[in-house]
Amino acid sequence: MSCRLLILISAVAVFAVVSGTVEETARDIIDALTHAPFEEWSGVFIATNDRIRIKVIRSTFFVPNSSANGYGGNDRQKVAAYHIVSERLEFADLLSKASQSRLPTLLTGSSILVTNNSGSGFTVDGVLITEPDMFVDSFMAIHGIAVPLDFKTYGSERRL
Ligand SMILES: *[C@@H]1O[C@H](CO)[C@@H](O)[C@H](O)[C@H]1NC(C)=O
Ligand SMILES: *[C@@H]1O[C@H](CO)[C@@H](O)[C@H](O)[C@H]1NC(C)=O
Repeated sequence: MSCRLLILISAVAVFAVVSGTVEETARDIIDALTHAPFEEWSGVFIATNDRIRIKVIRSTFFVPNSSANGYGGNDRQKVAAYHIVSERLEFADLLSKASQSRLPTLLTGSSILVTNNSGSGFTVDGVLITEPDMFVDSFMAIHGIAVPLDFKTYGSERRL
């Protein structure tokens, strides 16, 4: 598992160097999210990850409940990057993930842990998905979650 993840991360890194546009898209998205409240996250994400203007990132995006606005403080940029998975996963795709499997994120070296893969109580990093498939198209999927994900506790395999 950790080996597969490493290969995936290095593949993403190599790709980012070869294609500046994907890297630019990621930077634009993360910048925009860093300065937006959670209730604007999905709109900002859809508008910024726009295939007409720029190179789009196939991705999954977790949007926290807006009642947690203010979360992250100085780490807000890392928080934003950690909520983006570099793979398109509709809720049906998430359901096929094994419990304890990891989803690679745009935060370098950090991944999201699937903590419960049951349809009625699917959790990532111990956080319930409250609104599965909030938005889905051919290149991205967005899901609402109860509270923000905590990369400091769950992001690194070594820490668990
Ligand atoms: C996963 O969530 C379901 C539904 O809430 C619950 O019944 C089940 O016990 C949970 N599984 C684990 C391993 O926590
Ligand atoms: C958001 O959080 C508030 C306060 O914890 C809660 O009352 C509300 O139901 C939550 N909304 C969603 C969509 O989870």
